[in-house]
Amino acid sequence: MYQSPRGTQDIVPEDAAAWRYVERHAVDAARRFGYGEIRTPTFEDASLFLRGVGEGTDIVDKEIYRFQDKGGSDLALRPEGTASIVRAYLQHGMASRPQPVKLYSLITVYRYDRPQAGRYREFRQFDIESIGEEDALADAEVIAVLWRFLESVGLRDLTVLLNSIGDPICRPEYVRALAAYYEPHTDAICADDRRRLESNPLRLLDCKLPGCQPIIAGAPRITDYLCAPCERHFAQLKGYLEGMDIPYELTPRLVRGLDYYTRTVFEVVPPTVGAQATIGGGGRYDGLAELLGGKHTPAVGFASGMERIILNLREQGVALPDAEVPRVFLAPVGKDEAGDAAKARAITLADRLRSRDVATQIGMGERSMKSRLRQASASGARLVVIIGEEELREEHATVKDLQNGEQGRVPFDRLVEYLANDALPNATLTDAAGKAALAEAASGNAASTDVAPDPVASAQMASS
Ligand code: HAM
Repeated sequence: MYQSPRGTQDIVPEDAAAWRYVERHAVDAARRFGYGEIRTPTFEDASLFLRGVGEGTDIVDKEIYRFQDKGGSDLALRPEGTASIVRAYLQHGMASRPQPVKLYSLITVYRYDRPQAGRYREFRQFDIESIGEEDALADAEVIAVLWRFLESVGLRDLTVLLNSIGDPICRPEYVRALAAYYEPHTDAICADDRRRLESNPLRLLDCKLPGCQPIIAGAPRITDYLCAPCERHFAQLKGYLEGMDIPYELTPRLVRGLDYYTRTVFEVVPPTVGAQATIGGGGRYDGLAELLGGKHTPAVGFASGMERIILNLREQGVALPDAEVPRVFLAPVGKDEAGDAAKARAITLADRLRSRDVATQIGMGERSMKSRLRQASASGARLVVIIGEEELREEHATVKDLQNGEQGRVPFDRLVEYLANDALPNATLTDAAGKAALAEAASGNAASTDVAPDPVASAQMASS
């Protein structure tokens, strides 16, 4: 049997409710902060990412899904959203709109990574980009979107790791100092680090191997090398975060895995550590638009991995919504002609209920009363409507509340009104509200709250 490709997963109905819960909170957070939705293609010209994310990064060198289509175009599945969104910003002349242009997107992302818990080859991100503003207020706002969003889904004990990695004015001096610091350690560091020392020394700080950690710990700190404008921007950002009571931890060795960052970088991590534990990360990328052929456009954003959010919600025991169940299960019973008549009545009723927005399921196939009721109970519906020979003859349905076992009879011509009644979900058939609804539905029919013979009990008796 076929299996989904390694590093991908199906989101089956039992899990989809949790996904929709997280997505709804993401969209709500974006709306509260005034971000508009953008959707860009799943694939782009490969060179967009080679330039944007940067050759020399793991994402481009090791993880990109790059392919030629039948027309010979060199394309890549997006390994992240930022380069695509900046491309769209430039392509649609958004620089002429009021700045910053604030965009959000819920995207699928592809990286040929080594799969493990919380690390996939196809995964989903909530991506936020604020393009066209260099004010540290934009950085603070972007971090606030992420923080408030994660709070709203119910995650606790998170930490914002924060750093500034300077700009093209001050960073080169730091990179020289870092390389000079590493020179005497070349024998002690890993092979990847020796390569990084040549090609991209800043990435040395990102090495996860235990043997390299003591050397990282002694490395010079980039925040000691910031030029005055970068220093001021960073101080403003910290002040704004404090003003919103968003706690942060200064992390001078945080550099992140993409090349486009300038000044602010940040990550949000849960209490359990691990490379794949980062729930979200981002930063400022003032040089990216220019790199992609546009004019200088300061910008800042983040992306948060949706799989990791769900993983952490489960780990923290946050109650997630269950799969949605129908409210009503229509249970036609009977054989041959009687069964056919019951089903014909059921489909008409179902159609009318659904048009009144009542989620309705019909029991299909021919079943005994017992197995029909088993079907009803497995559907998760609260109310089961039994439509059998007697019900058809007497023009009323038997309605049973599966939560408390109570039941009553409702004339067919009042049934839709009765089941669509908003008061009912929390009422029972025999409490005051339920009786009132039932009485109203029956409108003067004295037999309305009569307790009909219990079909469940009869079915059980019949089968024993
Ligand atoms: P990133 O740090 O590469 O940044 O990814 C953002 C988030 O995606 C991570 O914090 C993590 O939650 C999730 N993630 C990354 N790789 C995987 C994976 N293999 N499986 C599951 N989840 C994963 C970016 O993508 C930047 N575009 C963020 C950004 C936006 N910077 C500025 N604007």
